[in-house]
Order: sequence, then structure tokens, then C-alpha cells
Amino acid sequence: MKNIIAFAGTNSKKSINKKLATYASSLVEGVEVDILDLNDFELPLYGIDYEIDHGIPDNAHKFLDIIKSSDGIILSLAEHNGVYSTAFKNLFDWMSRIDGKLWSEKPMLLMATSPGGRGGATVLDIAKGRFGYMGGNIVADFSFPSFNDNFSEGKITNEVLNSDLKNKAVTFQKAL
Ligand SMILES: Cc1cc2nc3c(=O)[nH]c(=O)nc-3n(C[C@H](O)[C@H](O)[C@H](O)COP(=O)(O)O)c2cc1C
Repeated sequence: MKNIIAFAGTNSKKSINKKLATYASSLVEGVEVDILDLNDFELPLYGIDYEIDHGIPDNAHKFLDIIKSSDGIILSLAEHNGVYSTAFKNLFDWMSRIDGKLWSEKPMLLMATSPGGRGGATVLDIAKGRFGYMGGNIVADFSFPSFNDNFSEGKITNEVLNSDLKNKAVTFQKAL
């Protein structure tokens, strides 16, 4: 059985992106799912001086090893001031110091959501423009707007958006 990982690009304990990533993973049939949380991979703030003095922390290696041993990735990015959250960017930067192609060509369903009407589309576009240079293999992407209006009790309530995500989950599953 294929093994996928799902996580959110944020360290919020009540993350809406984690809720979306978890739901999206439930739509992928016939796979084992590992839901990850950035809070379980605490890292110092990346800095070249820290790296020279202490090396690359174990948690960056651990997360990268999990990516490499997975068959596919579901990632939902939080948008902070139009870009990645600090917690995600920090992990991303640390992993890139180990392997510049960190996404390792694993099929990826890349998403973003926010309480706003653009659904994190700005950070999603940034990631879509960047990940391809870093071993990214984005097979489907999904921006989910107005999270609080369209999601309830662990599910998408808006039929059109739900059907869109279901189709993307099938595309992702076929790519595994
Ligand atoms: C510092 C900060 C900046 C934010 N900037 C944006 C933004 O640029 N666009 C947006 O749609 N939401 C923005 N938000 C709201 C986030 O989308 C919202 O907090 C969301 O819950 C974050 O996702 P998470 O719950 O998965 O961490 C911002 C929130 C914070 C705390």
C-alpha cells in the first residue's frame, strides 16, 4: 500500500490548513496516511552562523527523511503577509541546506486556505513558482477560499469546492 504524508505549512495548533490537509487526505483511497505537525519538529531560526557553529539540526533531517520515504505529499500552506508562514519557511530553508531538491519528485497535492476570499492564492502561486526548482512535482493544486464559511465538522460544505477537491484528490492518487 502507498504511504502519503499530509501536513500544513504553519505551527498553529488550531490550524485551518491542517484541517484542510487532513480532509484532503481522507479523499485519497487505498493509501496509508501520516498526518504531520510542524510543532513536532521544532527548529532554531535558520541562520548561517548557527549552521556553521552547530550544524543542521536533527529535526530537519528527520522531516526530510519522512518526505523521502513517502510516496506522495499533501501540503496546505498558511499565508502570512502574502508569503509562507515563518515556521514553514524555516523548515523549508533548513531542509534545503541538506538537499536543494528536497521535495524529491514526490507527487504533491499543493493547497492553501485562509479565512479570506482569496484562499491563500498568493502564497500558493509563490510555491507553485518555486517548488519546481526544488524537486517539486505538483500534480494538482487547490486554493480554498473563506475557510470559515465553507468548512464545518471536518468537511468542505460547499458542493462546488468539494467536488473540485475530490477530482484533484483522484488526480493525486493516480500519480502515486
Ligand atoms: C501575521 C499574519 C499575517 C497574515 N497574512 C495573511 C495574508 O496575507 N493573507 C491571508 O489570506 N490571510 C492572512 N492571515 C490570516 C491567516 O490566513 C489565518 O491566520 C489562518 O488561520 C492561517 O492558517 P493556519 O490556521 O493554518 O495557521 C495572516 C495571519 C497572520 C497571523
